[in-house]
Amino acid sequence: MNNPRVPGGPASGKKTAMRKKTAPPGQSPGSDLHETLYSVKNLSKIFPPAGFRALSGINMELRAGGCTLIAGSNGSGKTLLMRLLAGLLDPTEGEIFFHGKPLSKSLDRLRREVGLIFQDAEAQIVGETVAEDIAFGPKNLGLSRQEVAGRVATALAAFGLESKRDFSPRRLSGGEKRRLAAAGIIAMRAETVIMDEPFANLDWPGVVQTLEIIRALKNTGKTVILLTHELEKALALADRLVILHRGILRDDGKPGDVLNRLDPAWGVRDPRRNYRGVEDCSWLAE
Ligand SMILES: Nc1ncnc2c1ncn2[C@@H]1O[C@H](COP(=O)(O)OP(=O)(O)OP(=O)(O)O)[C@@H](O)[C@H]1O
Ligand SMILES: [Mg+2]
Repeated sequence: MNNPRVPGGPASGKKTAMRKKTAPPGQSPGSDLHETLYSVKNLSKIFPPAGFRALSGINMELRAGGCTLIAGSNGSGKTLLMRLLAGLLDPTEGEIFFHGKPLSKSLDRLRREVGLIFQDAEAQIVGETVAEDIAFGPKNLGLSRQEVAGRVATALAAFGLESKRDFSPRRLSGGEKRRLAAAGIIAMRAETVIMDEPFANLDWPGVVQTLEIIRALKNTGKTVILLTHELEKALALADRLVILHRGILRDDGKPGDVLNRLDPAWGVRDPRRNYRGVEDCSWLAE
């Protein structure tokens, strides 16, 4: 079984070798700002028996630093792309390079440097209590007990989970489970965080907390990749917008430019439409 927190990682409490690297202030250790993180070359995922092309001919580069928002309607291929970037699935065609090396040969580095927050928060639960769950990732990094306890306390506070620290994670609400997953990643201090539908099930304060975390990650030079159809919640934080539709990459560029080129057929709503009054507060077309 894989550790659901880290790409292809072990689920056991076994320690994983981890050396802390030093970096200039404002820059994450282990990654040069703007260095190519991922190169995705002609990537396709085809499912038998009918040969359904869930992803088709995807080409993209993801650089270190900044926030990329990958948007697309239901079934457009966002989660599949995340699973491929995480090394949890193999492509049918094409290849993914991580720091210039084939992803399959970089799994150790991927485990240390990339944190995942899945759409299904339940699937990420690994601890008997909320605090143990958050501690799991840092423990796997081989950190001291004191360091792990400090990181857990900080993450509990950052996500408003202090009062739930001894709860069974499975008893948390859907939104709280998502916060727990985010808290676990923050505690691991991954260089890159990939979040699949990070706002699903979250109430307004939960969304705001998540956005604050994303902003803080960005400001400390981490790389954030958000896969979501909820552009209206996060686009201001993104430097780049990628649109997927039916498994094909339809557009990729600066958010404002991409929105100006949006094709309604892609099923992504331009979040710049505003509400003048109650009568506008609906996503139904006039
Ligand atoms: N194991 C599988 N076998 C066959 N088809 C699959 C498999 N996994 C995913 N698909 C198909 O691939 C397409 C893309 O799925 P994916 O989960 O990536 O969509 P998504 O963009 O994340 O959608 P959502 O917004 O609903 O989360 C869907 O049509 C899905 O049915
Ligand atoms: Mg999805």
